[in-house]
This record gives sequence, C-alpha cells and structure tokens, in this order.
Amino acid sequence: MLKKVHHIGIAVPGLEEGAAIWGANGIGLVEEGREDVTSAQTRVAMFPVGESRIELLEAMSEDSPVGRFLNNRGPGIHHICFEVDDIESEIERLRGLGLRVLGNPPTPGAHGSLVAFLHPKDTGGVLIELNQFPEASGNP
Ligand code: CO
Repeated sequence: MLKKVHHIGIAVPGLEEGAAIWGANGIGLVEEGREDVTSAQTRVAMFPVGESRIELLEAMSEDSPVGRFLNNRGPGIHHICFEVDDIESEIERLRGLGLRVLGNPPTPGAHGSLVAFLHPKDTGGVLIELNQFPEASGNP
C-alpha cells in the first residue's frame, strides 16, 4: 500500500543554487540536512513542508542517473516518492500489474531507507520512487 507522498525529487545543477530557490532566502522552506547517497552518485538536500518534503538532487558524477537526467532534460522535477510499509510486497504487487521495477531487490537510499523505482515508460513518463524507512529510526 502507498502511504503518502513522502517527497518530490527535483534535479538541480548544484545544491547551493537549488537552496537559493527553495530555502529560507527563496521560497522559504527550511533545510533539514544534506546527505551523499553514494549508491546513486547523488547528493541530496531535504526541505520539509507539512508531511512531505522537497528533495533537491545534485549529481556527484555526469554518468549518474541525475547527471544523465540533467544532461538530457535540464533541471526540474525528477521523481515522486511514495512511502510504503513493506517494499518487498509492494514490488511484488506492482510487478503483478506488469510494471517494471528498477531496484529489485531494493537498494539503500538516504537515512537507512530501502528504495526502488518504477520504470517511467510504464507510468506515463513519471519516475516513481518507493521508499521504506527503518522502523527504529522513525521517519526522517
Ligand atoms: Co527521492
């Protein structure tokens, strides 16, 4: 089951440029913290807003998924992330609907989470992230 929209991922040329738009001196969100997700070669900054977050994504290399996205399409909305309780069963359910899952088994994401993506060609061009957070540490 999809619990809620956990965050919206936005590809930016750099976190400082992104923070200038989204942060306290821009639109007015307060940055929660930054983290390198080396498995995805991505540097992220989180900006909570209500129960959701804006996640800025900076490429750590040109050949990373975000680097390729920026080269092909430029900055902008990259993905929508749904929080799930049990990512394994959710992957099974969605694969049963014929959707291709990128990351099966799921891969480590920010804050000790487990992450998988649905192929955007199967979802009308929208990259969807599924994210299961560790119960012990709660929701980042
Ligand atoms: Co994300």
